[in-house]
Amino acid sequence: MTETAYIPPRPVPLPTTLSLLRVMWQGDGNLLGLLPNKAYTVETGWLGWSRRSILVVNDPSEVRRILADPDGIFPKNDLMTGAVEPLIGDSIFVSSGETWRRQRRMVAPAFGNLQLSRAFSAMDAAIDAREEALDRSAADGEDVSLDLTMSWLTADVICRTVFSAPLAPGVAQDVYEDFKIFERSAAHVELKRLILAPAFEDIPQHERVLAACARIRKHLGTMVDPHLREDADFDDIASAVVAARDPETGAAFTREELIDQLGVFFLAGHETSASALTWAFYIAATRPDVLGRIRDEITQVCGDDAIAFDHIPKLSYLKNVFKEVLRLYPPITFIPRVALKPCEIGGRKVPRGAMIMVAPWTIQRHEKLWKNAARFDPDRWTPERANDIPKDAYIPFGLGPRICVGAAFASVEASLILARLLRRYDIRIEESKPVRPVARLTTRPADPITARFARRG
Ligand code: HEM
Repeated sequence: MTETAYIPPRPVPLPTTLSLLRVMWQGDGNLLGLLPNKAYTVETGWLGWSRRSILVVNDPSEVRRILADPDGIFPKNDLMTGAVEPLIGDSIFVSSGETWRRQRRMVAPAFGNLQLSRAFSAMDAAIDAREEALDRSAADGEDVSLDLTMSWLTADVICRTVFSAPLAPGVAQDVYEDFKIFERSAAHVELKRLILAPAFEDIPQHERVLAACARIRKHLGTMVDPHLREDADFDDIASAVVAARDPETGAAFTREELIDQLGVFFLAGHETSASALTWAFYIAATRPDVLGRIRDEITQVCGDDAIAFDHIPKLSYLKNVFKEVLRLYPPITFIPRVALKPCEIGGRKVPRGAMIMVAPWTIQRHEKLWKNAARFDPDRWTPERANDIPKDAYIPFGLGPRICVGAAFASVEASLILARLLRRYDIRIEESKPVRPVARLTTRPADPITARFARRG
């Protein structure tokens, strides 16, 4: 089988009522299971099972209008902001309108610190540390969780970049476990509200989820505090955000606000990359044709040398593999907004309070927009096939003024991690049961993927 005929794991789309029954039966808070088959074929369409109106929008021009939101009527969706509030407050990822503009202005100078050539050495150092641990597992013939390995690695990269310090022992495991509790519980609350609640209704979070968020915030506080000391002397993203002042009032962020904002960098910056890398390694490890081409390209571009910053743009097949992974497994599965006023989208009258579901998951798998939408086909990203890529239908990093600030960072990071680890190890995946994608806050395999790393000759 050639790689273009490979269809990686996906949920079986069902008619509307059956998809609702499936989610209730599985009871795992999987928002993907709710998507009926029509969500992959309509331009815009109402999902029928909710007390609240939910409009799926797959029409690229409408997606652009909604995400650019020139009239300020499509802020971040209240369900999503309510779900993540205990973790990241009203920070840049969730705020809207004037609050968001003020925060973006304050945080913007720190983005300059995402300078890629500088971050590259932090990435390299984090991979060195992970390789040491993986070498030990390999020597002992020990299995590892692919998901946890990736969370560990990307959290370490972010810590070194944002806070100039490696991830403290135990923190990655704690954050991974707590984030799982948070995601699962938040998704349950969200699902219940999605199906039963009218718009803009407050439903309190479960004690367990609040406790998990508090633990993650405590870890973030520990990383922020050295930057608040009088003798602090850092030149990193955290110090730039600490130094930021409101252009109008001159006020600095409070400690809690710093935890909110830097929490976004930490969580949005590592959970997303870990999600994408988990899928990328799963595919590379189970598809010898993909792996062979990646390794051949690395040899051709880098020979036996260490992989350097200048090599990354030349690893074009690897880059296309990652792009295709982001198409089929966008880490941020849904980019939901809410209509603040009655309006019209795709010729449909939309009432106030309707949820506007812009979903990278459906638009990037849309059967009428993409040729062979479900196939894993990295070569669709080659310049010769540029006409195969529908305009504004590839949105893993969002679109418009709120587009992800970490997109270039994430792409370099993923290329380096994939290139280094695939060059160094053979990876065997234990598939005791079929891998099944689920979406809670990010797109992940339903069960952790078990992998065995072995050093190559
Ligand atoms: C593969 C990795 C990543 C993916 C797929 C991703 C995806 C996204 C998406 C879809 C949005 C827009 C959400 C919306 O409009 O509702 C977003 C926003 C954001 N991302 Fe990322 N992201 C990734 C990595 C990163 C990294 C590495 C950082 C920082 C180090 C980061 C920081 C942010 C921030 C701060 C925002 C909010 C921007 C704003 O609203 O002004 N992300 N990301």
